Amino acid sequence: MWKQLRRDMQAVMERDPSVRSVWEVILACPGFHALQLHRVSHFLYRRSQFAAARFVSHLARFFTGVEIHPGARIGSGVLIDHGMGTVIGETAVIEDNVTLYQGVTLGGTGKEKGQRHPRVKEGAVVACGAKVLGSFTVGRNARIGAGAVVLRSVPENSTVVGVPGRVVVQNGQRVSDLNHHQAPDPVARQLECLQAQVSSLQRQIEALEADKEPHGRQYGESNPWQLSS
Ligand SMILES: CC(C)(COP(=O)(O)OP(=O)(O)OC[C@H]1O[C@@H](n2cnc3c(N)ncnc32)[C@H](O)[C@@H]1OP(=O)(O)O)[C@@H](O)C(=O)NCCC(=O)NCCS
Repeated sequence: MWKQLRRDMQAVMERDPSVRSVWEVILACPGFHALQLHRVSHFLYRRSQFAAARFVSHLARFFTGVEIHPGARIGSGVLIDHGMGTVIGETAVIEDNVTLYQGVTLGGTGKEKGQRHPRVKEGAVVACGAKVLGSFTVGRNARIGAGAVVLRSVPENSTVVGVPGRVVVQNGQRVSDLNHHQAPDPVARQLECLQAQVSSLQRQIEALEADKEPHGRQYGESNPWQLSS
């Protein structure tokens, strides 16, 4: 237990460049606190003390903003950086030396039963806001980019980005071009649509005005509504 605590502390010291002392880890690292409380709730869960386990997990969530189901299995040297908004499901497995940032979800798709959460293998990094959903494996030392939505297995030593997530780097080699310049821009698309509608309305108004002109008031005619002086 102490060995695991020491490795968790070391993980924060080594991988969070903003932390300067062990006291900062003990007093002011919510991810570390959430992890240690999870160790307690997981202990209770394994002894079938489910309600007590959920209560400890709930307390951890209240104080740290990190929600870890008591059933999740988490190895040593894991860093949950910042933590706020991170959610880890019941059947998730996180191996040693994994790094998770804020807003990460290791969840289910809602379609699976039993084992329904991912297994994140040793040394993997899941960046902020990434959603890893389903029962599959994130390989050793894989990196999942910020904001990615990952729905299938990730090979080891690879980088996955985007929605849905796809492998862009594997073993240090680029394997897919992202073509950022061709990425769809929904705001620009809506503006183009609005512009087309305005042009079409403008044409219709011009046609209506052209139709009306011979029957309406002619240039040079006096305005009947104008008061004579
Ligand atoms: C994925 C990440 C870990 C970098 O991994 P990497 O293996 O070094 O990948 P690279 O930086 O070489 O990027 C590879 C390609 O993916 C793109 N990419 C990287 N991260 C991306 C993301 N989150 N979303 C979309 N594309 C991304 C890069 O632009 C690059 O494409 P390009 O060469 O066409 O421009 C990193 O980009 C990331 O997401 N870091 C966030 C860490 C974090 O959560 N920090 C929060 C601290 S508070």
